[in-house]
Amino acid sequence: MDLVIFKNYDELSQAAAEKVIAALRNNPRLVLGLATGSTPLGLYQRLVEAFRQGRVDFAQVTTFNLDEYYGLPASHEQSYHYYMWEHLFRHVNVPPENTFIPAGDPADVDAECRAYEEQIARAGGIDLQILGIGANGHIGFNEPGVDFSLPTHLVELSERTITANSRFFPSRAAVPRKALSMGIRTIMKAREILLLASGPDKAEAVRNTVEGPVTPEVPASVLQRHPRASIFVDEAAAALLSPALRRKVQGAGTVALG
Ligand code: GLP
Repeated sequence: MDLVIFKNYDELSQAAAEKVIAALRNNPRLVLGLATGSTPLGLYQRLVEAFRQGRVDFAQVTTFNLDEYYGLPASHEQSYHYYMWEHLFRHVNVPPENTFIPAGDPADVDAECRAYEEQIARAGGIDLQILGIGANGHIGFNEPGVDFSLPTHLVELSERTITANSRFFPSRAAVPRKALSMGIRTIMKAREILLLASGPDKAEAVRNTVEGPVTPEVPASVLQRHPRASIFVDEAAAALLSPALRRKVQGAGTVALG
């Protein structure tokens, strides 16, 4: 796992965008795994700018999102379908038929989860997966205690996640209790992973992910076992890392852990 610390959110977003742009230029048929939440917004904004400047082309790209709330139709303003359309897809030339997100209102949940795994396999697997992280260390919607061996499945959201995500809904009661999410097994199969973390609310999760043991109690800690995972954090999210590690990263720019 490579760790890089940036001064602030802008610098982190810029570096993430340059990494994705380089991957797109290197492979125009890239299969890109996407995340939602506040953290990747700066990345998406920069990808849209790069597209407008003619620096990137999404014509042959395929995308797979990590997750979707169970019970929300794609047209719901808080669905991740809506988010992706608003923040990225409608601004670039990715063919809509190449964009995949688990359905939030499937007739058959198990069939939808199986079909999602098959779609990923048919696309040749994910080349680069973008991740955010929950304050409790979740990735996608894989909550503490998750079984690392699960593929895409229906998840029960933790109380902490429901509270954190209630900022996007009119009330806490309006937050869905469940979601369809790629499993840890799905995420770990990606050839490369880039996790982004910004702000003081993520500092504890970042410390546990990077310096703690690999444990289902901190789902992101499993990334320590991935051969090509990078974690980009800003100084606020790095605040609880051990001083020795912070000094090492700041001196070298980046540090390979584990
Ligand atoms: C949500 C998403 C995650 C995201 C996380 C953090 O619950 N399912 O994919 O990484 O929360 O969100 P934010 O970036 O808004 O802090």
